[in-house]
Amino acid sequence: MGRYLTMNSLPPIPAGVVTLDDHETHARTTLDANAWAYFAGGAADEHTVRANADAWHDLQLLPRVLRPLAGGHTRITLLGRDLAHPILLAPVAYQRLAHPDGEIASALAASALQAGLVLSTQASTPLEDVARAFGNDPARGPLWFQLYLQPDRGFNRELVQRVEAAGYEALVLTVDAPCHGARDRERRAGFRLPPGIGAVNLKGLAAPATTSLRPGQSALFDGLLAHAPTWDDVAWLQSVTRLPVLLKGILHPDDARQAVALQAGGVIVSNHGGRTLDTAIATARALPRVAEAVHGELPVLVDGGIRRGTDVLKAMALGASAVLIGRPFVFGLANAGAHGVAHVLRLLRDELEIAMALAGCRTLADASPACLWTERRDDS
Ligand code: GLV
Repeated sequence: MGRYLTMNSLPPIPAGVVTLDDHETHARTTLDANAWAYFAGGAADEHTVRANADAWHDLQLLPRVLRPLAGGHTRITLLGRDLAHPILLAPVAYQRLAHPDGEIASALAASALQAGLVLSTQASTPLEDVARAFGNDPARGPLWFQLYLQPDRGFNRELVQRVEAAGYEALVLTVDAPCHGARDRERRAGFRLPPGIGAVNLKGLAAPATTSLRPGQSALFDGLLAHAPTWDDVAWLQSVTRLPVLLKGILHPDDARQAVALQAGGVIVSNHGGRTLDTAIATARALPRVAEAVHGELPVLVDGGIRRGTDVLKAMALGASAVLIGRPFVFGLANAGAHGVAHVLRLLRDELEIAMALAGCRTLADASPACLWTERRDDS
């Protein structure tokens, strides 16, 4: 892995790129049209992609002044570990489509910047290699593995055993994508995975048995979804692993309550970055009710549209335990490999510190709903 770390091999951050949105703008010129459609695109008309970002902007901070700030920090505790800050890299498939170093570059950057890493089931790099690149520095963030349950339980069990043996610390079961969303942007671009890039950790998975449909049956409901995971499968997964199982893709408070009842490791408030159900609620809007339903029993993480340190602070104020970013780090990866991912993480963490200081929060324990403006009923 050393070759990724030699300073003279690190490509520079493009001039003028000083925010996560700048990385996105620049990545439009570094990614080809195929990869751009895949990473930047969402489902259908992409209302939820936009709503995610807009919902953070719509929240207004209500700063406190003249509070003592010396000794402040961004540290948190998550699943029993002390972390330098609350930012994780979300699971994103096929990162070698963005840059030849793919998931290895993301792992090196996340590890160096003490961010958590959630590796996708659809990673384009073997999960063991990513774990090795992430390393074992005690100061590094958490290393988790995102799982799409396959219909073949034997395959799932073997994959989980590999994940455990490689040193991953938690499983993140994605529950909001029993089927693909209507990926219109991908279809318009004729998106295809280029040769040599694929879901290498799913090698050996038998192609799903073809179900012959009777007249009147639905290819979706009677075909693909006949094997889609349910709450029983969550319990099964918990029974075959010693790792905590977090559920990613929770928006409804009742689903959050069910996760608590099943003693899940945590929930991730997510709409898959607007890539599954278009017009699904923005995560910043769903978060408070999920946090209320969970009532501190489990960690509640959130992703979707987080582009600024102020967004991270708002998430923590609304009850999040930590946040994940997806597209922004992929754009950093496209622009400058590991250096680009590290830059994105550094920018976001620096912005978080500035936001905390200016909002009067010495630590993230000070981030509460009181940091956000709410209209009084009698103001309206
Ligand atoms: C995979 O999870 C995707 O959103 O493309």
